[in-house]
Amino acid sequence: MAHVLSRALAAVVALGFAAGPAAAQTDYPRRPITLIVPFAAGGPTDVISRIVGEHLSRTLGQPVIIENMVGAGGTTASTRAARANPDGYTIEMGHMGTHAASVALYPNLAYKPDADFAPIGLVAGTPVLILGKKDFPPNDLKEFVTYVKANVDKLNMAHAGVGSVSFTTCLLLNSILGVKPTSIPFNGTGPALTALIAGQVDYMCDQIVNVVQQVQAGQIKAYAVGTAERSPVLPNVPTSKEGGLPEFQAQAWNALFAPKDTPQPILDQLTDALDKALDDEQTRKRLLELGSVLPAKAGRGQQALAALVKSEIARWTPIIKAAGPTN
Ligand code: MLT
Repeated sequence: MAHVLSRALAAVVALGFAAGPAAAQTDYPRRPITLIVPFAAGGPTDVISRIVGEHLSRTLGQPVIIENMVGAGGTTASTRAARANPDGYTIEMGHMGTHAASVALYPNLAYKPDADFAPIGLVAGTPVLILGKKDFPPNDLKEFVTYVKANVDKLNMAHAGVGSVSFTTCLLLNSILGVKPTSIPFNGTGPALTALIAGQVDYMCDQIVNVVQQVQAGQIKAYAVGTAERSPVLPNVPTSKEGGLPEFQAQAWNALFAPKDTPQPILDQLTDALDKALDDEQTRKRLLELGSVLPAKAGRGQQALAALVKSEIARWTPIIKAAGPTN
């Protein structure tokens, strides 16, 4: 995650923006705020949203209500969020999939992630793991590569819909291996993980925050993490480089967005509240225990996120194009 954030930070500095807007006083918010989560409850985006949402509501003095809206790899909810009233009462927890990879995966995407949203701030980086069901024959990444290549015709890979992190990062994995397994979509990696634990699917890619406890409990196998460093919460899981697949660099990020045209003073209040949440010891502890990587203060705000969205669209588009047709 460090290199994604350092790229965003460099762009901020280049744009000559100072860190941290001062939030002008408004009478916002006067009623509850809806936080749209584009995937099923219990999955990584939902869990992160609930942890951060709790602290946001404390700072803003109004309930932050989670609304799970599923479909089309998160793009259904993102379309709804982009078209919501720009009054600060509807915001979305988007991520690397909904606000970057989807651009190349949906030629007729109904929103432009870098134009139809007002960035509020980066929330957390989420390293992505290559995972297998408990009785999946391979015992390490090398064996995984050999086994999947030899048996792909009879393998099922789970994901959270075209455009999701799990879909996009396993698209990268499968294109590196030169394979196309049968892909099984779910409304989120919450339900996909349940199917993996039950052995109904063979493998998947997922954000660490969703699977750290299941890996620690041995309910599923973790073959590698797609980051330069091992995760402190799963020290026994090798990096993809250590496992012999250095091309598999995959880390996602989750971030808050508002509809474009949301008034700047309201955006600043939301960015300020997010900043306070990410500075809060308890909130940090809960996110870090799940393996999240928290952005440094200077790399969190509106400009850093705007820069990240642009750089991630530029990063994932050629990867997705090179992988060929996704259906
Ligand atoms: C989820 O919350 O289910 C995930 O973020 C889905 C995904 O993008 O893989």
